[in-house]
Amino acid sequence: MARIVIVSNRVPTPGRRGVQPGGLAAALGDSLRPGTLWFGWSGRVVAETPTRAELVEHRGVAYAMIDLSESHYRGFYAGFANGTLWPLLHARLGLMEFERADLEGYVAVNRAFAAALAPLLRPDDLVWVHDYHLIPLGAELRALGVQNRLGFFLHVPFVPASIFGVLPCADLLLRALMAYDLVGVQSEQHRRDLRNAMDEILGARAAAGGRIYVGEQSTRIIANPIGIDAAGFTALAERAAGRREAKRLAESLVGRALIIGADRLDYSKGLPNRFEGFARFLHRYPEFRQKVSYLQVAALSRADVKQYQALRRELDRLAGDINGRFAEFDWVPLRYMTSALPRATLAGFYRMARVGLVTPLRDGMNLVAKEYVAAQDPRDPGVLILSKFAGAAERMADALIVNPYDADSITDAIARALTMPLAERQRRFETLAHEVRTVTAQSFYAAFCAALAGTPVRRLALAEKGAA
Ligand code: F6P
Repeated sequence: MARIVIVSNRVPTPGRRGVQPGGLAAALGDSLRPGTLWFGWSGRVVAETPTRAELVEHRGVAYAMIDLSESHYRGFYAGFANGTLWPLLHARLGLMEFERADLEGYVAVNRAFAAALAPLLRPDDLVWVHDYHLIPLGAELRALGVQNRLGFFLHVPFVPASIFGVLPCADLLLRALMAYDLVGVQSEQHRRDLRNAMDEILGARAAAGGRIYVGEQSTRIIANPIGIDAAGFTALAERAAGRREAKRLAESLVGRALIIGADRLDYSKGLPNRFEGFARFLHRYPEFRQKVSYLQVAALSRADVKQYQALRRELDRLAGDINGRFAEFDWVPLRYMTSALPRATLAGFYRMARVGLVTPLRDGMNLVAKEYVAAQDPRDPGVLILSKFAGAAERMADALIVNPYDADSITDAIARALTMPLAERQRRFETLAHEVRTVTAQSFYAAFCAALAGTPVRRLALAEKGAA
């Protein structure tokens, strides 16, 4: 069987337990097999970007990690990836900034990744590149003569062509995607949007087998939703429920119902809207005061990007407002924290929570929604409140679906969740749990690798063309 080579900006620190950066690393980590090579950024910023990656082996998986220079880091990560592409792909044009210098840094880092990765590749490797940080990597590898099958997966949403077209280098990025043999996105909606962008911006032509052509290059775009290790997460939640942290939380609740949210502190997560929905809930349903406690974990993220700093200030203010307005001497309605919690601790908290609030303004998938469901006790499950703009909503219609732009819809859903009869909670849980157990981290991984392995090999295609 071919070796799988994963490439992503973040690489989970081999052997580290507890908090790992982001759902991508956790979901891929759950499916890793010995023999895999995982290549990416070390997380370190140094004086100069080196030409070689440092290799570490852990449990049969090889990790190759490269440091970045300060200026590369700024242009690539804080600049183009998170200052331009992230807001664009989350349809927040007002927050998008574009500088040609950042784009140059982005391409330079992709080139440096390609140069350090190419010598590590074996001819039959299946190379699977992840997320918006690394769109040009495939084209950079091809420029170095790499002929392996190359796949790309976009973990974040895609946007309608008219929005993507606002990006001054929209055509350059779409062309770069054409260097991959297979491109995956989270949902049918995002697949349609990317396909349309290929048509409208590059004039792509459709061919047999779902492939598209732009000039001589061809690729296929598939929707392949990501999931979690559902059985593993359920077991984690069951164990965690008996641990010290869960007991401490339970004691502090003194019988009140727990509402939980856990997100990176990111403007795509809709946290101000969620806080507003909760404040209106306390206002419109005073009978619930003293009876609920809302814990929002908003783990600090990308703290050197100014939009994130502004959001943090806004949330600090809103949290203060809510507690100032509604708290009583023996009750604080909103517990808001910006430090991250280990996945196992969160799993125990999810199990205890009567309501899971997952209300992003836009999200590729959102694995918290799936983790919340997997953590529930089937005999007495909590209720998931889910934004219609999370990729997860496409296949999780039995959650209480809300439009997070309408704070009242969050308010109503909280009230409905807290009063939902057990039989309805169980019925909804069963269908949601079925989805979470069917579309898992493992099925995501296996389906993408199988589809990539099934794509035609480029060098043969080229050789055949030459012979014809
Ligand atoms: O899921 C989207 C994503 O950007 C991942 O690529 C990333 O690892 C995660 O969110 C966390 O973001 P960051 O790597 O910027 O901390």
